[in-house]
Amino acid sequence: MRKSIFVVASIAALALVGPAAAQQPIVVKFSHVVADNTPKGQAAIKFKELAEKYTNGKVKVEVYPNSQLFGDAKEMEAVALGDVQFIAPSLSKFDKFTKQIQVFDLPFLFNDIAAVDRFQAGKQGQALLRSMESKNFLGLAYWHNGMKQISANRPLLKPEDAKGLKFRIQASDILAAQFQGLNATPQKLAFSEVYQALQVGTVDGQENTWSNIFSQKFYEVQKDITESDHGVIDYMVVVNAKWWNGLSKDLQDAMKKAMDEATKVNNDVAGKLNDEAKQKIASSGASKIHQLTPEQRKQWVEAMKPVWAKFESAIGKDLIDAAVASNDTKTN
Ligand code: SIN
Repeated sequence: MRKSIFVVASIAALALVGPAAAQQPIVVKFSHVVADNTPKGQAAIKFKELAEKYTNGKVKVEVYPNSQLFGDAKEMEAVALGDVQFIAPSLSKFDKFTKQIQVFDLPFLFNDIAAVDRFQAGKQGQALLRSMESKNFLGLAYWHNGMKQISANRPLLKPEDAKGLKFRIQASDILAAQFQGLNATPQKLAFSEVYQALQVGTVDGQENTWSNIFSQKFYEVQKDITESDHGVIDYMVVVNAKWWNGLSKDLQDAMKKAMDEATKVNNDVAGKLNDEAKQKIASSGASKIHQLTPEQRKQWVEAMKPVWAKFESAIGKDLIDAAVASNDTKTN
């Protein structure tokens, strides 16, 4: 008798818990290293809103900006371990997983973000989204940030001005070679450590987009910024491929739709956020913005471009050629 009372009570308890448990949303974490007021920060927030809407609340997205959950060093490992589901690292940070994606790091390759966009939308760019599947990373989208500017506590108008300085770089061998070619010393550092490294003088300079220079306050500890547009910082949104492939088709479709729309928002606001950041830096007076003359620019191109030949066989000539061709608006 006592046993049957126990069984009845257990069934009743299960009946109460069952439907409630079934309604629990799947919690997915989106971790990134930049501030909310940047293109990636805004897009991650938009993705959360849309993914929750299109899955009718079956998915809850928690966004962790500013390296709060995982910084550069740990975020890929965290995706591999399933501790986080979405990340959007700068393309430079895939260096240890594939050399092909390093095409984006070649200096003076893309004329502007429109060219980057054409390359990403093309056959080779789209193939790169799936190029790390054997490592269990699946790319769902590219998100733009913008062109890189170079800064230090002295005007960098000619390549020789960088000589002897130590520059913080992202973890990319191409970026290391780029600075070695200037007779400067590259130092790989996580994004969250850059402000302090500049402040205490562990490094003398850095390269980044206007929105990152502004939102991380690098301009407060860098007296001079050259508008060099010498490279690009863009992102790939990646998920753990096994986790993604294990989701129902309905959830995948809903999250893909949310991702496509968030990508559009990102790419629509990126240029504006970078322009605004540049204006705010200029009006702060904390840092002087320098423009290059065409002759000076030519000298920077000559000083940095030898890096292309060094990495051509690792990246693939076809890929570099396709990226170069994306500068041509007539054929694209
Ligand atoms: C980012 O924009 O995600 C960070 C770029 C950097 O590490 O400089």
